[in-house]
Amino acid sequence: MSKTAILEFDGKKYEFPVTEGTEGEVAVKIDKLRGETGGLITLDPGYKNTGSCESAITFLDGEKGILRYRGYTIEELAEKASFLEVAYLLIFGELPTQEKLDRFYKDIKGQSHVDEEMKKILDGFPKSAHPMGVLSSLTNALIAFNPSSVNVDSEEDMYKAIVKLLAKFPVLVAWTLRKRQGQPLDYGDGSLGYVENILKMMFKQPHETYEVDPVVAAALNKLLILHADHEQNCSTSTVRMVGSSHAGLFASISAGISALWGPLHGGANQAVIEMLEGIKNDGGDTHKYMEKAKDKNDPFRLMGFGHRVYKNFDPRARIIKKAADDVLGKLGVEDPVLDIAKGLEKEALEDSYFVDRKLYPNVDFYSGIIYRALGIPTEMFTVMFALGRLPGWISQWREMRLRKEPIGRPRQVYIGENQRAYVPMDQR
Ligand code: SDX
Repeated sequence: MSKTAILEFDGKKYEFPVTEGTEGEVAVKIDKLRGETGGLITLDPGYKNTGSCESAITFLDGEKGILRYRGYTIEELAEKASFLEVAYLLIFGELPTQEKLDRFYKDIKGQSHVDEEMKKILDGFPKSAHPMGVLSSLTNALIAFNPSSVNVDSEEDMYKAIVKLLAKFPVLVAWTLRKRQGQPLDYGDGSLGYVENILKMMFKQPHETYEVDPVVAAALNKLLILHADHEQNCSTSTVRMVGSSHAGLFASISAGISALWGPLHGGANQAVIEMLEGIKNDGGDTHKYMEKAKDKNDPFRLMGFGHRVYKNFDPRARIIKKAADDVLGKLGVEDPVLDIAKGLEKEALEDSYFVDRKLYPNVDFYSGIIYRALGIPTEMFTVMFALGRLPGWISQWREMRLRKEPIGRPRQVYIGENQRAYVPMDQR
C-alpha cells in the first residue's frame, strides 16, 4: 500500500503521494500542490528540506557518514579504482570492462586538441585573475569552437559532447596554471594514463623530461575520485538548473564552476589553507581561532568544518586525512599546518559548540594540505576540485536530460509593495 501525506489547510484536507527511494528515503510529491489547493506553495530557503529530483547516481547518508557512487562505497572506489573508471561509472552507471574503458579513453584522447585561438582568450586575462574565473570563461569559450556540443538530444550526440569536455578540460586546467607561471602552453602525452597525463601537462618543465611520480599520481587519483560527485550540492544543482533550459553541456558546466568557486562551497579548500597559514603566522594559537569561530559577532568561520548534509564525519575527510599523513610521509614533506589542522580538529571535537551543531571536518579541511605537497599552488585548489567534480556534473546533467526533466523554475512569496500609481518627477 503506497503511503500518502495529509495536509490540512484552510479547513480542508489534501492528500499527496509519498515516494520512497531504494535506500528508504521518503518524499512528499507536491507537484500538484498549487493546483489542488488554489495557490498554496512551499517555502524552503536553501532547499534544506526540498528534493529537486530523483537520481540514481550518488547516495549519501549524512547521519551515518555514507557516500556511494552508483552503489559502490567511496572507500572501495578510492582504494581500488582509477579516476577515469569512476568517471565512466558515474556517467554510464556501471563499472566498465577493460575494453570499454580503453575505448572511452581512446575517444577522449582523440578529442584532446584545444583550438589554438583559445590561447588568445587566455592571453586576455591578467596573471592576477583567479583561476576559477579563467576556467569558467574558457569552458564557456569552448562552445564557440565546438558548436555541435550545444544542441545535443540523442545519447550519441551527448556522448560526443561529454568526451570532448573530458578531453579538453584538463588541458584548460593545465594552461590556466602554466599561464600564471609564465610557462609554455602545451598538450598532453597520450602514452600516459588520464591522471598521469594531467600531472605532466601541469608540471612538465620546458627544458626537462617529466617522470610521473607514482606516489603523486596515486594521491591525485584518490583526491579526484573523492571529489567526483556529491548528489545535489550547490554547483551540481546549478549545472542541472542551467542544463534544464537546454543551454548545452559546456555552458552548464561553466555555471557549475562559478558556483563551486564560492568559499562556502568548493572555494573552502583554498580558504582552509589561508586560515591555517593565518593561524600559524599568528603564533599557532588554535584556541583563539576556535573562540572566534564560535563568536556570533565575529565573521570568522572555521573553514573546512560543517556541512549541509553530513551531521557526522564526512567520509571523504577521513580518507583524505589518512592520505595526507601517507603522502607527506612518502614525499618526505613536513608541513606545520597539518599539525595545526589536527589540533583544530581535536579541539573542535571536544567543544560543545561544534559537537552540539554536529560540525565535523568536511572534504575541504585536509585536501589542500595534499595539493600543496603535490606542488599545486593554493589558488589552484578549487580548480582541482572542479577537475574531480567534472564527471559528477556531467553524469547529473546527462541523467537530467535523459529523464527529460522540466526546465527549473521555482516559485516565490512576494513581500514587496502592493500596487501603487506612478508619481511624476516633480511630485516625488
Ligand atoms: C562543500 O553540499 C555539498 O555536498 C558540498 C560539498 C560537495 O562535495 O559538493 O560537500 C563540498 O562545499 C563542503 C563545505 C565547504 N564549506 C566550508 O567548509 C565553509 C565553512 N562551513 C560553513 O560555512 C557551513 O558549515 C556550510 C556552508 C558548509 C553549511 O552551512 P549550513 O548547512 O547552511 O549550516 P548553517 O550555516 O545554518 O550553520 C548551522 C550552525 C550555525 O550556528 P547557529 O546559528 O545554529 O548558532 O552552525 C554554525 C552556524 O553559525 N556553523 C559554523 C560553521 N558551519 C556552521 N560555525 C563556525 N564555523 C563553521 N564552519
